[in-house]
Amino acid sequence: MTDPIEHAADILSKAKSTVALTGAGISVESGIPPFRGKGGLWEKIDPMKYAHIDAFLDNPETVWKVLIKDMKTLLDTARPNPGHTGLADMERLGILKTVITQNVDGLHQMAGSCDVIEFHGNFAWQSCLDCNRRVETSQVDLTRMPPRCICGGILRPDCVFFGEMIPDEALVRSQQVSAACDVMLVVGTSAMVQPAATMPFIAKDNGAVIIEINPEPTPLTARISNLPLLGGAGWIMPRLVEAIRRRLTCP
Ligand code: OAD
Repeated sequence: MTDPIEHAADILSKAKSTVALTGAGISVESGIPPFRGKGGLWEKIDPMKYAHIDAFLDNPETVWKVLIKDMKTLLDTARPNPGHTGLADMERLGILKTVITQNVDGLHQMAGSCDVIEFHGNFAWQSCLDCNRRVETSQVDLTRMPPRCICGGILRPDCVFFGEMIPDEALVRSQQVSAACDVMLVVGTSAMVQPAATMPFIAKDNGAVIIEINPEPTPLTARISNLPLLGGAGWIMPRLVEAIRRRLTCP
């Protein structure tokens, strides 16, 4: 039987347009916990109480203290792992076109990926609820809760809270690249949150091969995955890139 990583490398090295959809799992090996499953954030706190826009607007101080402050501490020091650098390598090799990420940690760009659609926004920036001024998260003074803009307004991260719309440009472009790709690599997502979880179905409906990288099966695995690679992204991705490189140098 062919090794699944070699099989995936065969498919990817012949593909014309590959798109990746990533989720929290790709950043687990960078020390950022996922939302669901073992050690998941939503096992500790209720997302409807702390990650919904209404919860934030009703009580920004609590949401900053319980969710956003800890997130800032984690993301301030997180660095890309071989899962992220593997995707950046695939882009440099001309295999991967675009990364659609549900993550707000900026680690794909830090790893060197150039075409990244941030489906749920980016934590690197905050916006003032009153004057819309944008402030880098690294510059936010955490001694005052909730942190405030120089105008006195409350700051919020430039991320999508539950109950908010996906930024139009991110949604439309994601749908377009998903419909146009011939391979979709789905990495580290439970594929439970809409509308991001629709992208693999859009790709599949348009004839793409779906390759999943995840240590656990997901709702996609039995339904539409052609090739599930069971394991952590940090372990699988460098091996996959190596196998693709071999094919590109000795076809
Ligand atoms: P989840 O936390 O729902 O799923 C993480 C997935 O990563 C699971 O399927 C794990 O099995 C897998 N995983 C764990 N370790 C891994 C590793 N080392 N390598 C690869 N995969 C691994 O995260 P998302 O699917 O990203 O939205 O969640 C989607 C959205 O739900 C998030 O963007 C966030 C959340 O609520 C908002 O906050 C709006």
